[in-house]
Amino acid sequence: MPRLADGFVAELKDRIDLHDLISRYVQLKKSGSSWVGLSPFNKEKTPSFYVHPIKGFFNCFSSGEKGDGITFVQKMENLDFYEAIEYLSREFSFPLRFQEGTSSSQPLGQSIRKELFTLQETVKDWFSEQMKTEGVESEVARKYWLEERSFSRNIASDFGVGYAPTDRFALGRFLKSKAVPEKLLVKSGLFYERKNQADWVSIFCGRLMIPIREKLGRICGFTGRKLSVTPEWGEKKAPKYVNSPETPIFHKGQLLFNLDLANKEINENKDFLLVEGQLDSIRCYTEGFKTTVAPQGTAFKDTQAELLRKSNPRRVVCLLDGDQAGQKAALSYVPIFLKAGLDARFATLPVGSDPDQLLVNHGKETLQKIIEQGEPMVTYVCGKILSNKPTPQEKRKVTDFFFPPFSEMESLVIRDSYLNDLAEALNVPPQAVKSDFQKFIRNRKPAYQERSSTPSTQNVEPKPTERLTTAEDDLLYCLLHDVRLGSSLAQIIDPSWLDTKVTAGRILGKILAEILADGPLDGNEMEELLESDDERFIFQNLLFQETEEGNDTSVMETANHCISALFAKSSRKAEKKLLSYLNHPNLENPSTTELRSQLKLIRNSRNSPPQITENELDPKL
Ligand code: UTP
Ligand code: MN
Repeated sequence: MPRLADGFVAELKDRIDLHDLISRYVQLKKSGSSWVGLSPFNKEKTPSFYVHPIKGFFNCFSSGEKGDGITFVQKMENLDFYEAIEYLSREFSFPLRFQEGTSSSQPLGQSIRKELFTLQETVKDWFSEQMKTEGVESEVARKYWLEERSFSRNIASDFGVGYAPTDRFALGRFLKSKAVPEKLLVKSGLFYERKNQADWVSIFCGRLMIPIREKLGRICGFTGRKLSVTPEWGEKKAPKYVNSPETPIFHKGQLLFNLDLANKEINENKDFLLVEGQLDSIRCYTEGFKTTVAPQGTAFKDTQAELLRKSNPRRVVCLLDGDQAGQKAALSYVPIFLKAGLDARFATLPVGSDPDQLLVNHGKETLQKIIEQGEPMVTYVCGKILSNKPTPQEKRKVTDFFFPPFSEMESLVIRDSYLNDLAEALNVPPQAVKSDFQKFIRNRKPAYQERSSTPSTQNVEPKPTERLTTAEDDLLYCLLHDVRLGSSLAQIIDPSWLDTKVTAGRILGKILAEILADGPLDGNEMEELLESDDERFIFQNLLFQETEEGNDTSVMETANHCISALFAKSSRKAEKKLLSYLNHPNLENPSTTELRSQLKLIRNSRNSPPQITENELDPKL
């Protein structure tokens, strides 16, 4: 195998624009000198995935994954180290360099993914041939396709539809005859795990085979539909559809059937059509609804909504079965669209029919009409929950349904217009819905004021996502969102008030000490004081948190609440100490009179904590 020239890997790393690379997978937002987004490795709601392009590394606090551009593509694309190098050298147009004397003509180690894509293509060709060859079985498949389903030969050839024979060893025999390496067969997802060295048993037997393409149009797997010749599974009935399992190139959550073709048509003035099945999607496409996609044999997920959002459509129109299951599915899609920031409409099909049957039996115009009657999300959900004469409780059910996804929406403008729509649909004043929504948000945010003030004695901090906010967190949040508070806080807050077991407490301590010594700091200067990943995480997390819209408590008011809380805590601590001295007189302690006067002072000042006022703020930095 050729060897890379010394220093090549380091040069390649320099060449990689980490922001450019990672933003192909993750939507990133600026946060100080770095970027932050939702973890691509973990499901999460609060962004905890940080990218530092200048330093050339990423850090994912929710999954613990960290590394550079090479590690990142290794994980995302499922590559080994050399495959990742090849991949990046291609993506960033930085040709591979080899050590002298080692050949550069052969690839570093062919990427297994590339080979798997080629293999699926070969298999598709073979399935297509099987559909065309003379025989009783293939005749069943042809008849099913042409007569029962009313598709054409051209459509079969455009979509690569074929037939997998009932002989479960046939595919394995064919691929062995082509000298396909066993390592590849194992990873292809086409065969069952082998009990016997010689057995390559195909998971697809006696089925109509539909290739699945990923977003770039490469075949990454198959789905096989049951036919009359499909062997049953022993006692059990064989399922209607068998899908490829997860492989290095087949990730269900990252796929939408027909997305590659739909993407060629989509633009900001067009809508995606979301249907349930692959054959629905093929039918719609061939009848002129070219932006139709379908989830991959599973429920529609956030990651798939994200795929649609990236193509920037005007909206998504869902065509779901009018039966109970279809309608239940539709309701579960609403929060997914809202969170992804996608506009969606719901068009209900007659019970028991699907877009395929509708097009075959009633034609395009009928489907077009149904699509046009699609309801906006708010109207749709209200229609499902509210009766003709809605009760207050039903209205409450509707707001309970919408508030959680609304609270996770990125755009406040869009959220506000949904709140207005909701008020209109519920026939209540917008202000009522908005106040309830604010209350919902406030109640979700655990307030340190309401907590009993038993400071944590544990050294380990709970995970930031699970943690109740402490006064230190909230105060740091205030400072980051209004740096003009800096000098006043530095004057008022005694370092001993801050709990240094809490990360935010340590950060605040450093920032306030620096301000006291050197004067006001801006956000970047504050960030420079951070010393650990932990500190950077908390800092950026608080910085990234948006000020709640419509929350009428100003940042300064919140800061004053925090000051009061910290002050009260420290005075209780001091009081306890004084009381214990008084109860255990000791020569080294101050005199009882002295202690009593101190105690009085503390008790008197308890109800008048120091506070910041508007005119004490630092001028804008
Ligand atoms: P449907 O049962 O509605 O099938 O399942 P369909 O798409 O209308 O198929 P035809 O028209 O009867 O051939 C909807 C989708 O759910 C997945 C498939 O992706 C299917 O297209 N599914 C269904 C499976 O993955 N496995 C199954 O056993 C059944
Ligand atoms: Mn169908």
